Amino acid sequence: MAKKRIVVFSGAGMSAESGIQTFRDNDGLWEQHRVEDVATPEAWHRDKELVLNFYNMRHKQLLTAEPNKAHLDLVKLEDKYFTTIITQNVDDLHERAGSSQVIHLHGELRKCRSEKNERFIKDMPLDGLKIGDTCPEGYQLRPHIVWFGEMVPEMDRAMETVQRADILLVIGTSLNVYPAAGLIYAAKKGTEIILIDPGDFGHTDIRHLHHIQKSATEGVGEVVAKLMHDL
Ligand code: OAD
Repeated sequence: MAKKRIVVFSGAGMSAESGIQTFRDNDGLWEQHRVEDVATPEAWHRDKELVLNFYNMRHKQLLTAEPNKAHLDLVKLEDKYFTTIITQNVDDLHERAGSSQVIHLHGELRKCRSEKNERFIKDMPLDGLKIGDTCPEGYQLRPHIVWFGEMVPEMDRAMETVQRADILLVIGTSLNVYPAAGLIYAAKKGTEIILIDPGDFGHTDIRHLHHIQKSATEGVGEVVAKLMHDL
């Protein structure tokens, strides 16, 4: 029988049990900051130092975080399914767990880029970025993050990937941020959609959605065990 395709679409809840805060579970504040003060092009133009300090802290925190059991369990799927992970997360915990196909919709904390030339991308220095760190053309380097109001360059690739899915596993996302959240509507008719999230999604209008109202480590463990036994 042909190998089935599983697409995983993950959000901040995926990494919550690795100690990384989600965005919307903390009174609307993200690590004590309003999102518009740190994650928009306007914030960058207003106060580059504040934005750099904020992302340097996130980067430093990531260096001490570890993939959790849910990240590790997802890797097992590759033995039996064509598996692609599309993540809204900017951490590298899926890769560090061992997943081989990961699309980052909202950028990557471990990378930085030129503020003028988005094709100039390099690894984030271990101690973070400073004002005065520039690309070879002399432009300031900024975090390689898709900020609110910016284009999502990987959106088309993600959309095509979801369209090919036989099973779509949605994990730990409030499905509040577009265009990313719209991905689940790209699944073809008949695709099995499983949402693993402890939150209440009573309002969802997606048909054929099976909601497992559990944490990522618990819910993913159960679902992966079942998928590995299914024919
Ligand atoms: P949110 O903070 O909006 O949602 C986090 C989701 O994780 C919620 O639905 C929680 O119920 C769920 N959750 C909490 N703990 C969990 C656990 N242990 N296991 C599983 N799920 C858990 O985060 P996202 O939906 O990822 O964008 O947010 C989307 C985007 O908004 C982010 O990529 C980011 C943000 O602003 C950028 O930075 C560009």
